[in-house]
Amino acid sequence: MNEPHPNLWHPYSQMRNLDYVPKAKATLGSKITLENNKILIDGTASWWTACHGYNHPKIIKAMKEQIDQMPHIMFGGLTHNPAEDLAKKITNILPTTFEHVFFVDSGSVAVEVSMKMAIQYWVNNKVYTKRKFLSFKNGYHGDTLGAMSVCDPSEGMHTLFKGYLPEQINTELPINKVKKEAFKSTLLNNKHEIAAIILEPLVQCAGGFKFHSRETLKFIDDLAKENNILIIADEIATGFGRTGSMFAFDQSKIIPDIICLGKALTGGTISLAAVVATSKIYDAFLSNNDDDALMHGPTYMANPLACSAANTSIDLFRTEPRLEQVKNIEKVLEDKLKECKNMKSVIDVRVKGALGVIQVKKMHNLNWLRKKFVEDGVWIRPFLDVIYIMPSFTISNAEITKLTKSIINIIPEWECKI
Ligand SMILES: Cc1ncc(COP(=O)(O)O)c(C=O)c1O
Repeated sequence: MNEPHPNLWHPYSQMRNLDYVPKAKATLGSKITLENNKILIDGTASWWTACHGYNHPKIIKAMKEQIDQMPHIMFGGLTHNPAEDLAKKITNILPTTFEHVFFVDSGSVAVEVSMKMAIQYWVNNKVYTKRKFLSFKNGYHGDTLGAMSVCDPSEGMHTLFKGYLPEQINTELPINKVKKEAFKSTLLNNKHEIAAIILEPLVQCAGGFKFHSRETLKFIDDLAKENNILIIADEIATGFGRTGSMFAFDQSKIIPDIICLGKALTGGTISLAAVVATSKIYDAFLSNNDDDALMHGPTYMANPLACSAANTSIDLFRTEPRLEQVKNIEKVLEDKLKECKNMKSVIDVRVKGALGVIQVKKMHNLNWLRKKFVEDGVWIRPFLDVIYIMPSFTISNAEITKLTKSIINIIPEWECKI
């Protein structure tokens, strides 16, 4: 009953070993109902997207109205209100330098477009040497070709796709004196080749939820600006309140050149992502030469249905107390998860905004652990060396406590299985 369908291929899964895939049939708030009517409290907000909880009535209403009127229309040569409204709303919640929004269909594609934008920015400025990116160890930016090339090389994909993937410069985040020196010398030695630095501000998410400080961000930004290198802030996971501010980079004094948004952009309802550029970037594409135009255009770009969901989702940050809810979640997670610090397999417990992370010495019996959480009535999906909670911001204190209790109860049992 919980086996994968024979015609389906699941993500990141060795299909030969995948023998347990619970079947979801409905969602509401922070709850997932399975086919057998078992209810799970959700600790992942569906890969960090459902920031307002599932099925928020205002988003559902907006989408229903949009689907009746115009679910889709091509964006080449046409425009529409949902896209125009959304571009305005996105630029309104970002610093004033961000004025231009390019819509795409997923986070990985947003990263691809941001990279093409950076390369072409230099080409249009007649700089032909800058064709590489500097990225960071533990970084994750997506699964398409360019995005993979700037992920942490130790993830395995670089070895697997060697010769096919573009080669980039990957270095450690400058989080201390020694790493600052190393980063500086890598940057100075390669500065004529580096088009942009791409980073996840404050939290490297899929690479293991590693945190860094706003000072680290500022150090990177200062060096980039001194050396004529662009900054791409990948806010796909951190954007829309997750770290306690609307965007993670808001907490530092950096102003990137390009920002990638995705995931929570539509409140977890439908795929949409955006690349937002400053006028400095946009203006480099304006000329009398058609070849200077940005050469990208996905078929479902700026899909009106997705834009209508995103417009309502952004409004909800104004009309409902989302950032206060994030603050409350942070407090509750800090309080409840500290009990894990003394467990023998745990090496670190860290919390930022609506994100709680328990890092273990070594992950083992992963399938057992995932199944155990489901049996216990929660949807928590450990990976790499982390067990984490990244819930909807509307989750109740009782629901968060159910999640933390489940972790606290299950870890000791899991430890005995080594
Ligand atoms: C920081 C970051 N960038 C990009 C992506 C890729 O987004 P998508 O899965 O929508 O392609 C992810 C996905 O986890 C991410 O966390």
